[in-house]
Amino acid sequence: MLAYRHRFHAGNFADVFKHSLLTQLLAALCAKVKPWCYIDTHAGIGLYDLKHAWTQKMREYEGGIGRLWHARDVPEALEPYLRIVRAENPGGRLRYYPGSPIVARRHVRAADRLVLTELNRVDCAELAAVFAHDRRVAVQHMDGYHTLKAYLPPAERRGLVLIDSSFDRAREFARLTRALKDAFGRWPTGMYAIWYPLMEPAPMRDFYADVQRSGTRKVLRLELTVRGDRAEGALAGCGMLIVNPPWRFEAAAAPMLEWLAGALAAGTGAGSRVDWLVPE
Ligand SMILES: C[S@@+](CC[C@H](N)C(=O)[O-])C[C@H]1O[C@@H](n2cnc3c(N)ncnc32)[C@H](O)[C@@H]1O
Repeated sequence: MLAYRHRFHAGNFADVFKHSLLTQLLAALCAKVKPWCYIDTHAGIGLYDLKHAWTQKMREYEGGIGRLWHARDVPEALEPYLRIVRAENPGGRLRYYPGSPIVARRHVRAADRLVLTELNRVDCAELAAVFAHDRRVAVQHMDGYHTLKAYLPPAERRGLVLIDSSFDRAREFARLTRALKDAFGRWPTGMYAIWYPLMEPAPMRDFYADVQRSGTRKVLRLELTVRGDRAEGALAGCGMLIVNPPWRFEAAAAPMLEWLAGALAAGTGAGSRVDWLVPE
């Protein structure tokens, strides 16, 4: 357990997918004055140096943020996300990649609040160092699934929960569905963003069916495939379920993901889909 370290994957296509959507969700929260709370159950270390030896091993960022860094035809919808990445690289050369906690911190206002939890002790210490002295941010060494029980519903009654599991244990889809069901029961009006890898058709069908049976309502499914085959065990694609998305979120996200599918394609069969897994 906890063999997974996000440094090996930082800035890859899955991060681009996840963080570009996350940016849009946080921007939507900021559209209203009322304070919000952001809960990141699997937070990672916050900021990634792409020159780190672990990241250099596979250089996955080259097929992710590296593709967008010099692209000229980036759609307007991706600009806010790219501005966050550029802000970490003021010299204009891509070196640092912001993880989900940094993406969130770029949006936080005086009365908003971030709760970041990470189970790997070493990674959690790095994360805490990034946010030292920021009173709006609480960093906890904690199992992200316990976080949901401890913090939901948040006092603000408004906000977003990101569940971004590393999927390094068996039966993670089942764990995720159980956690979502319980969290939704505690806080049915909260917004939830749940990342998942695209696996073989059978486990995916089971996952979708379990979510449909869970009682959770208003679940938007967004997926990005970068290759049609799963050559050498490489991730073929990933998805995000968004519970209680902002109004008309799907209309804005669909063309953005379609563009990303072309820009991040790693073989034939790249594509995207956006549909309602569970309607209202
Ligand atoms: C995919 S990474 C997170 C990346 C981060 N959300 C981002 O977007 O920058 C998953 C993280 O979850 C941590 N982790 C694994 N199991 C966990 C658990 N049960 N609770 C909290 N963190 C966990 C791993 O150590 C890893 O840092």
